[in-house]
Amino acid sequence: MSEEPAPPVLDRLGRPIEDLRVSVTDRCNLRCRYCMPREVFGPDHGFVPRDEVLSFEEITRAVSAAASLGVHKVRLTGGEPLLRRNLPELVAMVAGVDGVDDVALTTNAVRLPEFAHELADAGLDRVTISLDALDDAVFRAISDTPVSVDTVLAGVEAAIAADLHPVKVNTVLQRGVNDVELEPLAAWARDTGVTLRFIEFMDVGVTNGWRREQVVPAAEVVERLAARWPLEPVDGRDAAVAERYRYLDGAGEVGVVASVTRPFCRSCVRARLSAVGEVFTCLFAATGFDLRAVLRGDADDAEVAAVLGRLWGLREDRASELRAAEGLTGPRVEMSYIGG
Ligand code: GTP
Ligand code: 5AD
Ligand code: SF4
Ligand code: SF4
Repeated sequence: MSEEPAPPVLDRLGRPIEDLRVSVTDRCNLRCRYCMPREVFGPDHGFVPRDEVLSFEEITRAVSAAASLGVHKVRLTGGEPLLRRNLPELVAMVAGVDGVDDVALTTNAVRLPEFAHELADAGLDRVTISLDALDDAVFRAISDTPVSVDTVLAGVEAAIAADLHPVKVNTVLQRGVNDVELEPLAAWARDTGVTLRFIEFMDVGVTNGWRREQVVPAAEVVERLAARWPLEPVDGRDAAVAERYRYLDGAGEVGVVASVTRPFCRSCVRARLSAVGEVFTCLFAATGFDLRAVLRGDADDAEVAAVLGRLWGLREDRASELRAAEGLTGPRVEMSYIGG
């Protein structure tokens, strides 16, 4: 085997691999109704046993293999990644991989006040925080825990204080649940200086009881925002996912992620690695490829990269484009298992 990095690979639709999202745990300290409903993810739920979870060394090896194929962005996710012990250590290891120029974290921010500075010192570039409401009652109803929204807001402040810029906030809108929070959240984000993105509620996984009527289309979001604060589109998507808009009064940007009404599969350059080391080439896949078996076998680094490259080369996923009006059918992995 040569020491040369493998050449960049394209999938069957001509898409390169640029972004790897790594789930470091399938556990979470919240129980958002649309993601980990308590009836399903209760005390008896079979979370992944510890010895099955990839070690930091194994994750770093997988990231190196992906980087040799063209991945330069890595996002650590969960479940809730801050539940994984010593996460800053992993951040430092991943940030040190050749070719990786952006390390981000998706978190619910509950433990961010505790870890923000340590993460930044370890080499974390930025964070994306999930926040679906400012009103405490609405927040608690969605996240289904006694944690108060002030805890999350403190997490946002901690991220800003630790210079984890740009701090992005993701809001999943559901009609009849938190759509009234749209304007208050936008006003708060403008004041706070964070980049807010409204996400269309997706039929990811099979436990969240998704219905088409619950989706608030991105076009409606933009219309409502523009009615209050004039804005204009910004050229170029945010990491190929969010459509960006700029407030004309200079109060920054806001985005929409229209995975249901305006799918973006054509430009999807991301792979996902589950906590147990399965590679998913689509958020809506039923199963992943067992990379852990390769990592725990006797393959050398070049062979790990070659396996990953072959897998990507065969990829033809475009689930959101294929989604019928009533949503997807058939088994699908849960979002809490492979992360956003
Ligand atoms: P940045 O690197 O910060 O720009 O990240 P991003 O724009 O990819 O945003 P983020 O990872 O926060 O994703 C925002 C939301 O978009 C996620 O929480 C998902 O709900 C949705 N999303 C992200 N990636 C995909 C994807 O590949 N397919 C689909 N259908 N939805 C996605
Ligand atoms: N639809 C859209 N976004 C979702 N997320 C979790 N489940 C869904 C869903 N069904 C979001 C979370 C978080 C990110 C990891 O994914 O709110 O911002
Ligand atoms: Fe946890 Fe995020 Fe899922 Fe909420 S959306 S249950 S915070 S992983
Ligand atoms: Fe990528 Fe699959 Fe999402 Fe399409 S549905 S953008 S292929 S992850």
